[in-house]
Amino acid sequence: PLPPPFRVPLPIPAVLKPTSGDRYEITQREATAEVLPGLKTPLWTYDGTFPGPTIESRRGRAITVTHHNELPVPTVVHLHGGRTPAESDGYPTDLVLPRNWSEQHTGHTMHDPRAVVTQHTRDYTFPLDQRPTMLWYHDHRMDFTAPAIWRGLAGLHIIRDDAEESLGLPAGERELPLMIADRAFAEDGSFAYPSLDPGLRVLPGVRDEYFAGVLGDVILVNGAPWPVHEVDAARYRLRVLNASNARHYELEAVTDDGRALDLVQIGADQGLLATPVTHQSVPMAPAERYDLVIDFTDIPIGSRVRVLNRLGTGRTREVMAFHITRRAEDDSRIPTTLSTDLPTWDPSDAVRVRDFTFRAGRTNGHHGWLIGGLPFDPARTDVTTRLGDVELWRLTADIHHPVHLHLVGFHVLSRAGRPPLPHDAGLKDTISLRPGETAEIITRFDAYRGRYLFHCHNAEHEDMGMMANLEVV
Ligand code: C2O
Ligand code: CU
Repeated sequence: PLPPPFRVPLPIPAVLKPTSGDRYEITQREATAEVLPGLKTPLWTYDGTFPGPTIESRRGRAITVTHHNELPVPTVVHLHGGRTPAESDGYPTDLVLPRNWSEQHTGHTMHDPRAVVTQHTRDYTFPLDQRPTMLWYHDHRMDFTAPAIWRGLAGLHIIRDDAEESLGLPAGERELPLMIADRAFAEDGSFAYPSLDPGLRVLPGVRDEYFAGVLGDVILVNGAPWPVHEVDAARYRLRVLNASNARHYELEAVTDDGRALDLVQIGADQGLLATPVTHQSVPMAPAERYDLVIDFTDIPIGSRVRVLNRLGTGRTREVMAFHITRRAEDDSRIPTTLSTDLPTWDPSDAVRVRDFTFRAGRTNGHHGWLIGGLPFDPARTDVTTRLGDVELWRLTADIHHPVHLHLVGFHVLSRAGRPPLPHDAGLKDTISLRPGETAEIITRFDAYRGRYLFHCHNAEHEDMGMMANLEVV
């Protein structure tokens, strides 16, 4: 029994309180929630909720988050988009074991000599010396990231600073974090996931018909199905994340009389743009974020603005709605200059050009997803770069692959030999490679030395091998 659209109120995830100073604690544990009316959905959670609590931090002010694993499987926490020292970056074999976990259940992920495995608890330290933006934290265990995120292991993290706060952008109740994720449900209300190994112990991946990725038929925003949010006739800042495992969206905001409102993009994955870019719709691949301002000022009181997904059909066309309930003061603004600290790199600065293919293929008789013809192997270093080097990467895809680099933000230089698209503006950490396309990106590996990753953020592709090691030396 799916709820009618736009009835369930939009939840806003609670902001996590520090236990003292800059220290936080999160317990990963099982919980249930009434996601669909009248049914109980068992979840894996950060602190009991899906999404987990939002962490709000300040640029350049380090925090430590202690995670306790009370779940029945090992976990790994990764802060997506964080400039994080390797030991806190959540490398997929740096497991936090649950209590009473016997080693025979950990499969080949234990055969990584560099893995740092802890029992039950782990401290993750994040310097957060980076541009303000919305990041997200999620599970990253080798081979089992997709089902762990699906069950609920995802939360938001917002970095702020004085410069951004002085811009006068919509704030407070007019700044809304929106984590969009699709899910499928079984009859009893549990999340349905077609894992090859329901215990998530040894065997990774999904069944053949799900090989391209697992889609749900219910669209959740902040964990609620097709929610509605009451708003003033004013400007709002929408901080949108596509936390879906595999679903792509193209979001538009449509009034009751069928008019598409402008979506003014002020920021990308890695923070504010230099100047705003206006869109009629924005495409979102898994793990991408958009920082948008939408203006409800001229919308009739009592009417709605629906957020729709142009790529969906039937109920996956609907995402959420805003119900405009009253006139109100609005002194927010969108400055024409948003930021002046965007790094830029010229192709002539690149000391290396690398080519990578992202394709399905067979290795050792197994069908999988491969980078450069190889499946992920923690024992192999795929890319070695020197701290401070600028590199230009050419990425080629067979089908859609949202390619994500840990540690650094990058600029999109070109797609299929042509200039980047309007929504490629700003500093990205995930690029949606389109079928058959070669895209060029440029970055500087300048934060920390150590072992990092790049991978496809279609979470099923990632679990089935589409991940590679990046060693900064
Ligand atoms: Cu969102 Cu490797 O992560
Ligand atoms: Cu992929």
